[in-house]
Amino acid sequence: MKKYKVGIIGATGTVGQHYVALLEDHPWFDITVVAASPRSAGKKYGDCVAGRWAKEKPLSDATAQLIVRDAFADVAAVADEVDFVFSAVEMDKDECAALEETYARHECPVISNASAHRWTPDVPMVIPELNSEHIEVIKDQRKRLGTSRGFIAVKSNCSIQSYVPAFHPLKEEFGISRALVCTYQAISGAGKTFETWPEMVDNVIPYIGGEEEKSEREPLRVWGKIENGVIVPAEKPAITTQCIRVAASDGHMAAVFVSFDKKPTIEEIKTRWAAFAGEPQRLNLPSAPKQFLHYFEEENRPQTKLDRNLENGMAVSIGRLREDTQYDYKFVCLSHNTLRGAAGGAVLLAELLCAKDYI
Ligand SMILES: NC(=O)c1ccc[n+]([C@@H]2O[C@H](COP(=O)([O-])OP(=O)(O)OC[C@H]3O[C@@H](n4cnc5c(N)ncnc54)[C@H](OP(=O)(O)O)[C@@H]3O)[C@@H](O)[C@H]2O)c1
Repeated sequence: MKKYKVGIIGATGTVGQHYVALLEDHPWFDITVVAASPRSAGKKYGDCVAGRWAKEKPLSDATAQLIVRDAFADVAAVADEVDFVFSAVEMDKDECAALEETYARHECPVISNASAHRWTPDVPMVIPELNSEHIEVIKDQRKRLGTSRGFIAVKSNCSIQSYVPAFHPLKEEFGISRALVCTYQAISGAGKTFETWPEMVDNVIPYIGGEEEKSEREPLRVWGKIENGVIVPAEKPAITTQCIRVAASDGHMAAVFVSFDKKPTIEEIKTRWAAFAGEPQRLNLPSAPKQFLHYFEEENRPQTKLDRNLENGMAVSIGRLREDTQYDYKFVCLSHNTLRGAAGGAVLLAELLCAKDYI
């Protein structure tokens, strides 16, 4: 099979490095271009990440030798050389939105981790197992952009990637009336390690800027419908959240309380979770976990350190489902924030877009 030529914009950052590590052995995708800020442009990729390579697996020689391009100045050339790009840039929201749209207008599809286009009405925000049908809005986006190939598709925020999948198989049948979620989020979500953020050692910080708003609003967009060429967000369920930074390197845990319109039994919930599969499983996409939602019967699981890497960090772990005194039920769930929640989720989305002929 001929491989797709792939560029990574923001390749030197935390998420960018995860892309590199995931794509070096990918059966469909070849990294042909890496790009970042003018600070890195013109240097070898290996030199740019020396001393801050975040992965255990060493960087391959081929990628280390790639010369980093300037993400802004080299748009036309990069767009010409690749089949699509992953965007993992960290910059001002308007600048990022403009940069991604410039790539799309140059007929280069963009799969993005950044939040800049998450609320652009004709840009799909996709968790591939949950709302793969939203990619159909791309045809309307292309009309607006005046492109035949170029478009933008985005991932949601990493904080929602554990509890929204857990709610999803229950939502239609039982109706979720209200939910309360507290997240316990790893420091890599801020692009940090314990070396670069020593204040986080032995610490908990009860504030992550903008995270609670995203955690409450983005699920409604994931559960929205396409109407007249845009995604119209769902109106419910009402979700209230508190997002807390904890001293974990990777992995976002969530403690969830939920009530239903029609209360299911514990067995009904566990059966729906065990049986749930989405389009990535049906299409057998290379990065799709075989079992997306894993339920642990042990009362001290899932644990961030033990369970975040389940199915290459692409599965969601759930545990401690039990009755609550204020809500119908409570449980905990966990997902890997830089894999399922960032680069891995975006690679899965790109695989879906290739399998469905959007790329
Ligand atoms: N970390 C996570 O778990 C996570 C999860 C979900 C989503 N995200 C999102 O993913 C994106 C990347 O996050 P990160 O944690 O990887 O950030 P990061 O480690 O700070 O990396 C940022 C990247 O953007 C590049 N960049 C910065 N300014 C630029 C400019 N003016 N022009 C071109 N490139 C520029 C940097 O290049 P230089 O090295 O040259 O400066 C670097 O490659 C963010 O939008 C973030 O919100 C992160």
